[in-house]
Amino acid sequence: MITLKSESELKLMRTSGRVVGQVLVELEKKIKPGVTTLELDKFAYEFFKKNDCVPAFLGYHGYPATICASVNDEVVHGIPGKRVLEEGDIVGIDVGAFYKGYCGDSARTFAVGKVRPELQKLLQATFESLDRGVEQCRVGNRISDIGHAVQEYAEARGYSVVKDYVGHGIGQAMHEEPQVPNYGKPHQGPRLVEGMCLALEPMVNVGGDEVRVLEDGWTVVTKDGKFSAHFEDTIAILADGPENLTRI
Ligand code: MF3
Ligand code: CO
Repeated sequence: MITLKSESELKLMRTSGRVVGQVLVELEKKIKPGVTTLELDKFAYEFFKKNDCVPAFLGYHGYPATICASVNDEVVHGIPGKRVLEEGDIVGIDVGAFYKGYCGDSARTFAVGKVRPELQKLLQATFESLDRGVEQCRVGNRISDIGHAVQEYAEARGYSVVKDYVGHGIGQAMHEEPQVPNYGKPHQGPRLVEGMCLALEPMVNVGGDEVRVLEDGWTVVTKDGKFSAHFEDTIAILADGPENLTRI
């Protein structure tokens, strides 16, 4: 079932979305060579607590942390730990939290220090592919219009999009219907209507689209070892167009 949010529910979605967006702004300032992903995780945990939010990932199917931190060839769901970020790395930070029972979910991939120009281009293109998807979040369009726009943008620049993981509806649960793939033909799937909230989250690879899960049961990496970027925003579909709830 696809849930539609009332104006009072949207208010709560805006609050969780804002806090999730803010924690990413704060985390970006901390991302430098020498910092560990666990330090970032601890900061996010405290930040959510201070802002009356409950981490959405912690304990989700047994996930052990507040954030996901996915470095270089890691696509998504990297578990924070002792890994020290190094100059030239890229790190995807994914965060989610509930405020009064309503969830916000967002991710950014950041450069650690100075990175190769090709990687800067990957980050820029993945962010822009997300916005091409957001632009399709309009009443009357269909779900696959989003992924079609994402895929078209990313592939035109020589990248591939991950197919094995998708975006999702979001609200009182982090993952609601419908699934929101980052690929496909246009004009397929459910129609978008006012009050829907969707988390769009393109994962864009420098190489092929194939991925595998490491022995920790969580970390998704590219099969070819090439680098990957991930950006995510929570979007409300309103009568006059998309409202990005997690963009600060
Ligand atoms: N943004 C991711 C998602 O929508 C984060 C989930 S990580 C998990 O699936 F640990 F909570 F699974
Ligand atoms: Co998500």
